[in-house]
Amino acid sequence: MKILGIESSCDETAAAVVVDGQHILSSVVASQVNIHRPYGGVVPELASRKHMEAVIPVVDKAILKSGCQKEELDAVAVTQGPGLVGALLVGFSFAKSFAYAMEKPWVGINHLEAHLNSVFLEPDPPPFPFISLLVSGGHTAIYDVRSHTKAKLMGQTRDDAAGEAFDKVAKMMGLGYPGGEIIDRLSKNGDPEKIQFPRAYLDKDSYDFSFSGIKTAVNRYIQTQANHYQDQIPDIAAAFQEAVIEVLCFKLIHAAKSKAYRHITIVGGAAANSRLRQKVRQEADKNKISVHIPSVSLCGDNAAMVAAAGYHRLLMGETGSMDADVFSRTIIPAC
Ligand code: KG4
Ligand code: ZN
Repeated sequence: MKILGIESSCDETAAAVVVDGQHILSSVVASQVNIHRPYGGVVPELASRKHMEAVIPVVDKAILKSGCQKEELDAVAVTQGPGLVGALLVGFSFAKSFAYAMEKPWVGINHLEAHLNSVFLEPDPPPFPFISLLVSGGHTAIYDVRSHTKAKLMGQTRDDAAGEAFDKVAKMMGLGYPGGEIIDRLSKNGDPEKIQFPRAYLDKDSYDFSFSGIKTAVNRYIQTQANHYQDQIPDIAAAFQEAVIEVLCFKLIHAAKSKAYRHITIVGGAAANSRLRQKVRQEADKNKISVHIPSVSLCGDNAAMVAAAGYHRLLMGETGSMDADVFSRTIIPAC
């Protein structure tokens, strides 16, 4: 089954053609990061307008690169939510119209379910069940994943998402946007032990997270250092990153052990973090757990993961109805 995936929930306009939820024929991502950078974050109105400009060329390019004719596509899968309503509406309305005109079935997909399915686009995907840590700019959660379409939420952040904390801390130090990648890079030259930032484990048996405390701790540290903080940026970045990653990693491994599962995954934009990937692999090895992490291009928002999730929904006989609407927050379960 050849599925056209479309994603426009935040600041990436993306389209992809994927066969049987697994083989990527094409994946095109048009990032708006340069447009939002001067504002230090995504401006929803600008995002919607840029999606409007990009959606047709991006879909055209994905179909062209796939080597298929659009008549050969079997179905369309599109992100329905959560995300920015105006941004979602662009991809969602386009997908409905395209499917209607081409007389193809289509299905709306939860963005989080799409991230959870991103590991199946890689060789050697995990068998069910497994534990997944979803870390992105908008979400941080641990799921007990039972199938492509069923995942039980075990815990999530009570305040900021991990990616959001990276972005905010980078902003505090005047490092630019988006901050995750910058902090990841600068940390390589820093000493993670020079400064101690708090680790918010909450209750050690809970799978919930909180990142607002560490954000405040970094802010306070910067203020106490006045201008001297500039010389310590790599150390601050490394210490902050280590504190966040230690908690993410601990809870992920703890969740797998509590269920006696042998497989874990990390998905979402912040799963691109090199230290997170390294530390989770080290800890999982010690516990004889195998780790599955998508390649960096499949961690951030993309449409191949939407097509992959769509394949399994369509196999179950699900299709979208023309009066369906987008949603900004998860009112339907992720899976
Ligand atoms: O999944 P994603 O592309 O969009 C959402 O669904 O939110 O995630 C974007 C987030 C941003 O907060 C960004 O700073 C973070 O992922 N991110 C990283 C890295 N690369 C991207 N965070 C930490 N380390 C990275 N290397
Ligand atoms: Zn995402």
